Amino acid sequence: MAIISSKKQSPQPERPDDDIFLASEKKTRYKTKKSKSQTETAEVEALLEAEATTEEKSGNQNEEKIRPQRLDEYIGQKDLKEVLNIAISAAKSRKESLDHLLLYGPPGLGKTTMSLILAAEMEVNCKITTAPAIEKPRDIVGLLVGLQKGDILFIDEIHRLSKMTEEILYPAMEDFRLDITVGQGKTSKTRSIPLKPFTLVGATTRVGSLTSPLRDRFGLIQRLRFYEVDELSLIIIRAAKLLNTDITEDGAEEVARRSRGTPRIANRLLRRVRDYSEVKKLTPINAEVAGEALELFNVDPLGLDWTDRNLLRTMIENYNGGPAGLETMAAATGEDAQTIEEVYEPYLMQIGFMQRTPRGRVVTSAGWRHLGFSPPDEQLSLKL
Ligand SMILES: Nc1ncnc2c1ncn2[C@@H]1O[C@H](COP(=O)(O)OP(=O)(O)OP(=O)(O)O)[C@@H](O)[C@H]1O
Ligand SMILES: [Mg+2]
Repeated sequence: MAIISSKKQSPQPERPDDDIFLASEKKTRYKTKKSKSQTETAEVEALLEAEATTEEKSGNQNEEKIRPQRLDEYIGQKDLKEVLNIAISAAKSRKESLDHLLLYGPPGLGKTTMSLILAAEMEVNCKITTAPAIEKPRDIVGLLVGLQKGDILFIDEIHRLSKMTEEILYPAMEDFRLDITVGQGKTSKTRSIPLKPFTLVGATTRVGSLTSPLRDRFGLIQRLRFYEVDELSLIIIRAAKLLNTDITEDGAEEVARRSRGTPRIANRLLRRVRDYSEVKKLTPINAEVAGEALELFNVDPLGLDWTDRNLLRTMIENYNGGPAGLETMAAATGEDAQTIEEVYEPYLMQIGFMQRTPRGRVVTSAGWRHLGFSPPDEQLSLKL
């Protein structure tokens, strides 16, 4: 995931006497000096530069090559595309910026991709950052004042914004304005600085963790859902073409079935299968080659990997299939609780292998059977 640390990339030491403070920051202020504002401009520039060099842009080139650039290349998510198509046409015809958009859903379903596509469709810039990188008020201020009319500011993991940053965003989102406190103590004044109209695109895997004032300021709130096998097959066929890899339709379907409904995983598995077929000189990639390769990488026919199976097995063997609490599962498997909740559980629930109950997580009969155990209800009927 793209983590752009504004801290890392703007190495100026922290100054105790910042020239501008925000109303929400409730701090005192020192006199403005010319030299300081120059330093500040440099800092803002450094931060904006930091935003321009994203991992997505400079990182894995293959990943970049296969990332869809326009809305018609974005496969699946029919409802989302329809909603956004309307929003784009309406905003364009009114010559306005797009409404603020909140995208939520499990990792790798195409949130960052969609944000870049929106910018391309609206013919504006997209600045990408992530909430943990916005540490100080001046980070978000720098970003906001640097936006041109209609630009998109993409904030990943938006549920992790600090309270102070959120408060700066409220008037910025609502009225395109920054509220800044100038002066010290009794003489301090709040000044409003107008911003150019912009679009905030927030992405999160945990929509429930967003504060309601922030959530309410998004005009569009859209969930990304897991992809169907036929959609993933199309994504794989498209990516294979871009990677100059020969794959048959059933080969693509075999990879798709094991991709946990997630394009990022589909692309990753495709690369593993491509390596295998090249080394073993087995081309084109058909269902058999794809199956063999993915067995080798421990990805089972439903896409479960070692960690998924370990989670299910531990719950079955140690807790008779549950209910077990998240922390208990984390302790028993050595996995991080948040990773279980955000990465593993959603798919296990989607395929009906796990359920959340008020008393904890439970492995379903299908889950027991998939791991080769007989579920407790069947054990009972066997005994009778
Ligand atoms: N609808 C789609 N059609 C084709 N390819 C897609 C689609 N969605 C995502 N991808 C591919 O999957 C990869 C991962 O998508 P992306 O980085 O947008 O996910 P994300 O939702 O932002 O994940 P995270 O929550 O981890 O940041 C992209 O590089 C892209 O190639
Ligand atoms: Mg992303």
